[in-house]
Amino acid sequence: MIVLGIETSCDETAAAIVADDRRILANVVLSQLEDHRPYGGVVPEIAARAHLKHLNGLIRQALSEAGLGLDRLDGVAATAGPGLIGGVMVGVMTAKAIAAARSLPFLAVNHLEGHALTARLTDNLPFPYLLLLVSGGHTQLLEVSGIGDYRRLGTTIDDAVGEAFDKTAKLLGLGYPGGPLVEQAALDGDPARFPLPRPMMGRPGCDFSFSGLKTAVRQAVHALPPGPLTDRDVSDIAASFQQAAADSLADRTGRGVAMFRERHPAGGALVVAGGVAANKVLRSRLTALAETASLPFVAPPLPLCTDNAAMIAWAGLERLKLGLTDPLDFAPRPRWPLDPDAAPAIGAGVKA
Ligand code: KG4
Ligand code: ZN
Repeated sequence: MIVLGIETSCDETAAAIVADDRRILANVVLSQLEDHRPYGGVVPEIAARAHLKHLNGLIRQALSEAGLGLDRLDGVAATAGPGLIGGVMVGVMTAKAIAAARSLPFLAVNHLEGHALTARLTDNLPFPYLLLLVSGGHTQLLEVSGIGDYRRLGTTIDDAVGEAFDKTAKLLGLGYPGGPLVEQAALDGDPARFPLPRPMMGRPGCDFSFSGLKTAVRQAVHALPPGPLTDRDVSDIAASFQQAAADSLADRTGRGVAMFRERHPAGGALVVAGGVAANKVLRSRLTALAETASLPFVAPPLPLCTDNAAMIAWAGLERLKLGLTDPLDFAPRPRWPLDPDAAPAIGAGVKA
């Protein structure tokens, strides 16, 4: 079986073709980074227009790279939420049009499910496992037990961790997106120079919080002598922030691991996904944590950790194999929690 996947929920326009034997036949991603850079963040209207402009060409490119025509497809999957609704609509309408024109099954995929199932595409990982999803829009711990069987163990009660990296970078004048630049600046910084808070550390449960840390970084910057920040200041603040964020993530994930172990005394794995999974300090903390818990640590290759369409095609394939197709009147969902039983996080913003 072969499925075309489409991803347009944020600032990446992407199309991919994946086979059910886990081969990625094509995986094209067009980043809109340059379109949004002047604004220091993603502008929804600009994103929607850019998806509209580029998506058809990217699908054509994916088909040509895979050496396939539309007649070889067994289904069309698109991210149907959560995300910026204008962009989601572009992807869903395009997928529906192809499905209608070719009488193919349509699969409305939850973007988070795409991230959650990637480790099965890359590592053939069996259920259940624990997923830490850390990106610009999400910070969640999910117990993944089967297709459509997700239990949210924790989520951020305010900002996503990627957002905190981006805001810190902006404050330090490093540019956008901030994560990689903060990591770079932190390399020769002193993580102990600024005593920043470790949000939620030691609290019961495994929810996250990053807005207090963000505020503490701002206060630390403002407490410095007036004038431009020195390179040393920038490096030390970046390192102190990164250390605090990693400490907090490791503490919460440790609790998630304990909760997972209680329910699954044997088997399982710790999986990380999302753009922040690129961070080496975080990776080494998670590696150590998994080792202590005797869990394998699975980190999909970076291009499949960040937003892409291969993960959407794969989630579509998993659903198609179970006959879980969707009607053509499926309405895109700006908010769409994976775990419908999870209570909305207090103070959670528009990002799911
Ligand atoms: O998954 P992603 O590409 O897009 C979504 O947010 O859905 O994640 C992007 C986020 C940005 O906030 C970016 O600053 C962060 O991931 N990021 C990093 C690193 N690389 C990307 N954060 C920390 N360290 C990194 N090396
Ligand atoms: Zn994502």
